[in-house]
Amino acid sequence: MENHDCLWINATLTVITQEGMPETLSPAAIGCKNGKISHLSLMSDLPKKSNKMALEIIDVAGACVTPGLIDCHTHLIFGGNRAEEFNLRLQGYTYEQIAKQGGGIMSTVNHTRVATEQALEKSAERRLDQLLADGVTTVEIKSGYGLSIVDEEKMLRVARKLGDASPLTITTTFLGAHALPPEYSDRSEYIELVSKEMLPRLHDEGLIDAVDAFCDKIAFSVDEVDSVFAAATSLGLPVKLHAEQLSNSGGAQLAAKYAALSADHLEYLSEAGAIAMVDSGTVAVLLPGAFYMLRETQKPPIALLREHKVPVAIATDTNPGSSPTLSARLMMVMACQEFGLTPQEAIHGMTINAAKALGMDDVIGSLEIGKMADLVVWNVTQPSELVYWLGGNLVSSVIKGGEPIYPLS
Ligand code: NIG
Ligand code: FE
Repeated sequence: MENHDCLWINATLTVITQEGMPETLSPAAIGCKNGKISHLSLMSDLPKKSNKMALEIIDVAGACVTPGLIDCHTHLIFGGNRAEEFNLRLQGYTYEQIAKQGGGIMSTVNHTRVATEQALEKSAERRLDQLLADGVTTVEIKSGYGLSIVDEEKMLRVARKLGDASPLTITTTFLGAHALPPEYSDRSEYIELVSKEMLPRLHDEGLIDAVDAFCDKIAFSVDEVDSVFAAATSLGLPVKLHAEQLSNSGGAQLAAKYAALSADHLEYLSEAGAIAMVDSGTVAVLLPGAFYMLRETQKPPIALLREHKVPVAIATDTNPGSSPTLSARLMMVMACQEFGLTPQEAIHGMTINAAKALGMDDVIGSLEIGKMADLVVWNVTQPSELVYWLGGNLVSSVIKGGEPIYPLS
């Protein structure tokens, strides 16, 4: 891709983490050269020769500019949908009841197994386009609806293909330990397959950036996930965990034991779990879409996370069951409204802390000289409006590595 060197002027810049600079600068200018942020200053401090600094000057007339949003937890690739299950939930059946009757994750596994690679790619591409239109420039995509070597491989290959074809950065996560497939009655046999066969093979094929598991009463135990994480660690792969979503199972402590990048969901997180996470530098990823759609009442313990200074990220958890959403910004609104995050915490949650949850905070997630010029220009003038408008598209333009990628004219 050809590189545009640009200078955006008269902007309200937010999520600046550069030392010695305030968090928000306005009216300000941000410049990019060779795909990276090369300039950040107040308009009043712009060098006189700024017209020579950049090929193109864009006046955004007070608009808010943030780093590109980072969606650090998605199940974007899947076959079918679960609208019928939603209907059942509206009639009072719980997520757990539906899962126990062979619906839930297994229903999506069945649809994903029979889908062709092309069909999976096409449907996921459409979802990716929606996320991009909402200001997302980096997306993590999990497998976990295949649950056999060939089907997990198929999902991860699709994720890699999406990454190759899209201007967005896509990272892949292997989620073999998402649910016990029906053809296995012996749990330890399946865990062995995940750890000893799937993981090494898919890693050898270069398909895995990180390893995840679902640790809960309807999924896998701490001991079972421990074996998967031991295998991942021996291959040098970072781990992350669906933890403490439906019960306090000790998943946060397990994640911390393996210095996990993140522990996600966390509605039932205990104080011991929060302390373990801070000691291991594990990010707390909150998923308000799943909380809302499953009508959970137990909220993640925000006060504990604040008290122990655990970095908090927010993600869509886009999936056909618990979180059928394609709006990242709406998740920020819901994190404020449902969980009580401040606007600043929510914006950090989808930028710098989400970058930490992917182990990428040295390159993306904030406006800092030297970081990738992944930017969103919003049709608002105050950052707090981003967590205030309930839905709708506020994006004026999305820039990835200095290139405008949305809207395409
Ligand atoms: O993050 N908790 C487990 N996995 C997904 C749900 C997947 C599904 O229901 O299909 C989640 O909520
Ligand atoms: Fe999830």
